[in-house]
Order: sequence, then C-alpha cells, then structure tokens
Amino acid sequence: MKFHYKAQLAAALIAAAFAGTALAGPVLYTTETTDITSTPGANVAGQVLAGTQVEELERVSGKARVRIRGWSRVADPTHISAEPGKPVIEAAFASSRTVKLDPSAGTAKILGATWNVATAEGWVDSSKLTADGAGLTAQAKAAKDSKCSACHAAPSPSSQTASGWYSIFPQGGKAGDENSQDELVFRYLQNGARK
Ligand code: HEC
Repeated sequence: MKFHYKAQLAAALIAAAFAGTALAGPVLYTTETTDITSTPGANVAGQVLAGTQVEELERVSGKARVRIRGWSRVADPTHISAEPGKPVIEAAFASSRTVKLDPSAGTAKILGATWNVATAEGWVDSSKLTADGAGLTAQAKAAKDSKCSACHAAPSPSSQTASGWYSIFPQGGKAGDENSQDELVFRYLQNGARK
C-alpha cells in the first residue's frame, strides 16, 4: 500500500513538472499601463503598470491571459511589487481577492510588515504586450533622455534608489500629464535604480 502511494505521488510530481514546463508561456512586457480583467469581457479588476514582465498563459482574439508574479504585503494584498517592501509597483487591483499569496515561495518581514511572493492572473489587450524587452528599454531610455533634459541634464537611473524615484514621482510618472510614455520612463528609472 505504502509503495503504491509513493509511486502515485512520484507520478503526480512528474506530471506536475511537465505540466509546469508546458504551461510556462512566453515572457512578455507591458508597453504601457494597461487594464486587466478577470475574464475577457469583465469589468476592470486593476491595472498592470508599464514595463511589467508577465507570463502569457493563453491568447484569444486580441486578448491575452497573463500571470504577474512579484511580492505583496500580506495585510493588504492589492498591489504586486517587484521587490518586497519597495514601491516598485507592477500591478494594482481594486480588490485583494485577485492577488494569490504564496508564502511557501517566499516570505519577508520589512519594517514590521510581512510580504509574500504573490501572483495574479487576468486578461489584457495583447496589443499592449511585447516580447522585445531590450527594445522597450531602449525606447524608455530615449524618452527619458528627451523629456528629462528640457530643464536640467537627464539623470541616470542609478542616481536614485527605487524608493527615491518613487518619492520624486509618487504618481509613477502620471503627475502632470497622463502620458503613458512617462509611466514607462518611471519604470525604466526604477529598474535601473541604485540598490
Ligand atoms: C519642466 C522642467 C523639468 C523637467 C521636464 C524635469 N525636471 Fe527634474 N527638476 C526640475 C527642477 C526645477 C528641479 C529642481 C527642484 C528643486 O531643487 O527643488 C528638478 C530636480 C530634479 C531632481 C532632483 C530632485 C531632488 O529632490 O534631489 C531629479 C532627480 C529630477 N529632477 C529628475 C527628473 C527626471 C527623471 C525628469 C524626466 C522624467 C525630470 N526631472 C524632468 C525641473 C524639471
């Protein structure tokens, strides 16, 4: 009996491993901040911010089901951040039910708050996704160099920490105008920020 159980367990683990490989979809990036919905036609559940890495799970006529993975604060899992305890926001949701906490994959305590590895899935317009991460970075750098040199020399991303950039641009680049390029520039600054 015991042996049989173990064999079944091993078979299940192997199946899971292959399923995992098969499911691991292409890695894509959001070219601008984009709405995410729980089903293709549903109301907006939240937003995936510009320049966020997502895994594509499925694509159906202009819509892609994607998974976002990062960290979320256990007490209020409405945001997914690239790093625990840091305002490097990848996605924001109206309800905490969209975000799935995965403490077994990672947990961290920062200034008294507990963070877990977290994922969220939903549908976005596939036109807002690109596989060309390097191209997107180059586009963001060019936008930064042109926009940020109007009044002073364009700063290098590493001149601030990710939290520093967040305090300078608390709206994530949205302050002033709602130009999506600014949000991409903001993500570029945070990605290249000093550690
Ligand atoms: C409309 C003019 C203007 C544009 C465009 C502009 N800045 Fe500035 N920036 C300023 C001024 C003026 C200061 C000095 C403010 C001060 O010292 O309080 C400043 C200061 C800064 C500082 C120093 C802030 C600090 O607290 O030390 C940083 C960093 C900065 N800007 C980054 C940027 C970036 C990145 C962009 C492009 C996204 C940008 N700026 C675009 C006018 C501008």
